[in-house]
Amino acid sequence: MIDLHSHLLHQLDDGPESVEESRECLRILAEFGFDEIIPTPHRFHMLYSATPEDTADRMAEIGSLLVRRFSFEYMYGNDLLESSGDLFELATTPSGWKVLLVEFLPLMSRKSDIEQAIFSLNLKGIAPLIAHIERYTMPDEVWEELKKRYSLYYQISLKTLSHGFFDNKRAQILRLLDAGLIDNAATDLHRLAKLRQIEQGLDLLRRKYPEQVERLFSLSFED
Ligand SMILES: [Fe+2]
Repeated sequence: MIDLHSHLLHQLDDGPESVEESRECLRILAEFGFDEIIPTPHRFHMLYSATPEDTADRMAEIGSLLVRRFSFEYMYGNDLLESSGDLFELATTPSGWKVLLVEFLPLMSRKSDIEQAIFSLNLKGIAPLIAHIERYTMPDEVWEELKKRYSLYYQISLKTLSHGFFDNKRAQILRLLDAGLIDNAATDLHRLAKLRQIEQGLDLLRRKYPEQVERLFSLSFED
């Protein structure tokens, strides 16, 4: 099982403050069943923009066999659209799309804004893996329609799955999983204290969607 979204490298963004906390997070994630963690510090975010050099340094300092490569969680905007050749993709699809983990500003909740962003990324050869899609409170039909028209992938956060039964975002994730529209599930881990929620989300996924678990934690992206 591979996790494609976390902030568990210390002192880079809003993740752990110490190397010890980073190592403890990794130890517990291994107990949950993860055998690879691909850290994705924030890049081009309003508050944080980790560099490849600092990221590689933190990885070396932690020295865990679970962490063998890194990528970034890219904030959508001009910095991303104008960068050339210096992007660290998670994967490349069989027909050559670069798969990047992308987040939008939380206030971007209009269909036209999201569609314009996806269109611009596709023009650059990027197929975004959209992080925590439940955050944007878009109707299910919009996600379904965008998937038919563009190259893109959807990721949900395990933490949201741990929310209460009446939580709208949790309910949306379950509907989208039922419809087979979700490509990836991730921890989006920032701090040790959140591991309990992640464990609860993972338990629910394993109980309710055992047939999807392998695909949701893999690095293979079909065209
Ligand atoms: Fe994140």
